Amino acid sequence: MKVVASAPGNVKIFGEHAIVYGKPAIAMTINKRCRVLAERRQDDRIVVKSGNRFSDYTIVKIKGEGISLNPNRRDAFFKYVEVAIEKVFNYLDNAYGVSLIIESDLPEAAGLASSAAVTVATIASLSKLLGHELEREEIARLGHEVELDVQGAASRMDTLMATYGGILYLTQDSFKEIGKELNLLIINSKEQRSTKDLVIKVRMLRERYPEIFTSIIDAIGKVVEQGRRALIYGDDEELGCLMNINHGLLESLGVSTPTLNKIVHIARELGALGSKLTGAGGGGCVIAYAPVYEHEVLEKIKKLKYPVFLANTGEGVKIESCEVGR
Ligand code: MEV
Repeated sequence: MKVVASAPGNVKIFGEHAIVYGKPAIAMTINKRCRVLAERRQDDRIVVKSGNRFSDYTIVKIKGEGISLNPNRRDAFFKYVEVAIEKVFNYLDNAYGVSLIIESDLPEAAGLASSAAVTVATIASLSKLLGHELEREEIARLGHEVELDVQGAASRMDTLMATYGGILYLTQDSFKEIGKELNLLIINSKEQRSTKDLVIKVRMLRERYPEIFTSIIDAIGKVVEQGRRALIYGDDEELGCLMNINHGLLESLGVSTPTLNKIVHIARELGALGSKLTGAGGGGCVIAYAPVYEHEVLEKIKKLKYPVFLANTGEGVKIESCEVGR
């Protein structure tokens, strides 16, 4: 049997980092996805491949301690996949040899939540291969557990987004669809970063300046609420303006970079109504909202040699195909 599942990356329109401190956020999944093909093997090994990278594990079952993977060859690149496989085996209390092949349209470490996408797609394809089509709620919960194990700290935002898709207004323990399609330009600064390090950096700022920090986080919370109204009423000008304010507040949290600031300002000069860094910052991508002029802005940014594409709203995790072998 062969199963292919896919899950989307996402961008944060408002509220990254502040969500870690109890504020809401708004994110949108994009039409770039990660696909995971899971196929049963004749032996008892787990082999994970992506391009020319691979990891190879043996399944270990210890009574009372559950199922784990013992690496014969481990590529740290697959750390989310490895933990996702263990979670699924233990959740379904079943394990056998499997080959996983990963293909992704999402750039790595670029703030587009590629780790959540690969985690969620792995959980969906492997559980289906083991004979269970999990509910979205179960996929999102297991996905969040994987992020917590690998990163130490994470909000539920990225795994919920990869699972449900769309434009969601999220709080720490709930989410609601805002049901509007949006086109956003996504510009890659080509600076790689680690979400974990950025989350730690923000926590250190909070320890140093607790009162100032609280004011910035509160202000981001207000931006998110007004941004939600702007999205619901289709107020483009207000949406752009609030994105600009959100970028300024993220910069004051110390997560922007000179390159991100440069791209943000170039996009505005070229006609975007709003632009901001998206995700953890420290590099990664900028989003720009340029209704009407998006193709013109896109072409001009391309000439500046930053990778750029026009994204629209993508759907959540799905089983792409399921072939029963002979
Ligand atoms: C990272 O994609 C978004 C952050 O808010 C961290 C999180 O929510 O886990 C920076």
